[in-house]
Parts: sequence; structure tokens; C-alpha cells
Amino acid sequence: MEQLIEQMKVILGTNFGLYFKAHTFHWNVEGPDFAQYHGFLGDFYESVFDQTDSIAEHIRALNSYAPTTLARMMELSKVQDIVAIPSPLIMMSELAQDNDKYIMELRTGIALADAADEPAVGNFLQDILDAHQKHGWMLKSFTR
Ligand SMILES: [Fe+2]
Repeated sequence: MEQLIEQMKVILGTNFGLYFKAHTFHWNVEGPDFAQYHGFLGDFYESVFDQTDSIAEHIRALNSYAPTTLARMMELSKVQDIVAIPSPLIMMSELAQDNDKYIMELRTGIALADAADEPAVGNFLQDILDAHQKHGWMLKSFTR
């Protein structure tokens, strides 16, 4: 159970890192296809942020506490910050790689939920995994 709780915290941090990075790309993207990228990134960050509250509340339901500082969230996140503002296609390839990292952490969480006999947590993570496999297809389609 401890491993599942720790993994849920990694998933929360990674979710938040991915959300924040996508939101900054939504703000800063430039170029002839601005409207298309700005809109796509807007939908993407909203969808990622929609999960944040439920992930944290699942941690509470597992009788642990959610992180209380941004520093701790970023320590938990598998998504690295990016200081420079990249070109739109690099933004998409960056997010595709980060999305893959999130998928890996979700898969680990599903396996740990199964091992801990917590099927409701596993089902919750599976729904997020399903959404992010679809996001992965879209993000990768920009750079093919
Ligand atoms: Fe906006």
C-alpha cells in the first residue's frame, strides 16, 4: 500500500508538471499557425488539470496527505521544466515525450493498485491512461 501511495504522489507531481508546461506553451507559442497551436494546447492543459484534484483526493482516500508545496510537486514530477521558449513543433515533441513519461507512471500505478487490491484506484488510473494514449497519438501527429 505504501508503494501505491508513493506512486500516486509521483503521478500527481507529474500531472502537475505536465499541466504547467502545457499551459506555459499555450501562453508563449508563436508562429503562422498560432491559433491552431494555442487552441490545441488550451484543450490539452485543461484536460490534464481536470485530473489534478481527483488524483490528490485519491491520495487522501488512501489515508495519506497531498503535497503542500510547489517545490515538493516539482520534486515528484518526472516532467522537467524548460526555460527557453521553443518553436511550436519542438513544443509538441517535448509534450509527446512528457506524455510518454506520464503514461509510464500511470502504468506503474495501475500495477501497484492491482498488487494492493485497490481496483477502484486502478480503474481511475486506467481512465487517465486511456485519455493520455489518445493525447499521445495527437501530440506525435504534429511532428510526423
Ligand atoms: Fe488561455
